[in-house]
Amino acid sequence: MRFSVGVHGLRARMSRRSFLKGTSAATAGLAALETALTPAGAAAADDPQVFGPEPVSITLRVNGAARTVAVEPCATLAEVLRGPLNLTGTKIACNRGSCSACTVLLDGVPVASCSMLALDVGERAITTIEGLANGDVLHPVQAAFIEHDALQCGFCTPGMVLSSAALLERNPQPTAEDVKAAISGHVCRCGTYPHVVDAVLAAAQARRG
Ligand code: FES
Ligand code: FES
Repeated sequence: MRFSVGVHGLRARMSRRSFLKGTSAATAGLAALETALTPAGAAAADDPQVFGPEPVSITLRVNGAARTVAVEPCATLAEVLRGPLNLTGTKIACNRGSCSACTVLLDGVPVASCSMLALDVGERAITTIEGLANGDVLHPVQAAFIEHDALQCGFCTPGMVLSSAALLERNPQPTAEDVKAAISGHVCRCGTYPHVVDAVLAAAQARRG
């Protein structure tokens, strides 16, 4: 039996047998290449630690406190924060690293917590939206979001606030363009972007006094 495949406007013709022969040869070639590129003894030297399937006990540094939890090895940081740690301010929307709703800070750097394993956090300090205020005193970004009406449904807001707070730590005098760049990965279906930019600029001003 013969069939044809369109390739950039050309009609490439081949038999099923030659097609299958070609793919199995390519697969064998890739396997040989992988073997050739793996240094002898590398597997033993790296000796990756194997976890699971049982839950693993880990200690996370969350908002200044050490929290020990048993987590499944496949659990994301977002799932562990929202589940056993009950820090539901961290939102999960796309759950695939596309919207930034799940943003938390790791050692002050914004990361998508839906896209990293809790096991991989290690010693890094986690800041969630629950840990941003100083007791009853809101972080300047939080206060400015309220002042400038920078949220509607609020689903994107924790992530937006954390990325904005991180921006002000590394750049106390941002321009509007800097703010837009800092929140560029954050999807807000309510369209609050102009108010967010105003709020972050106002927060920067407030921090400078
Ligand atoms: S929920 Fe993590 S990036 Fe969208
Ligand atoms: S305020 Fe609703 S998604 Fe941003």
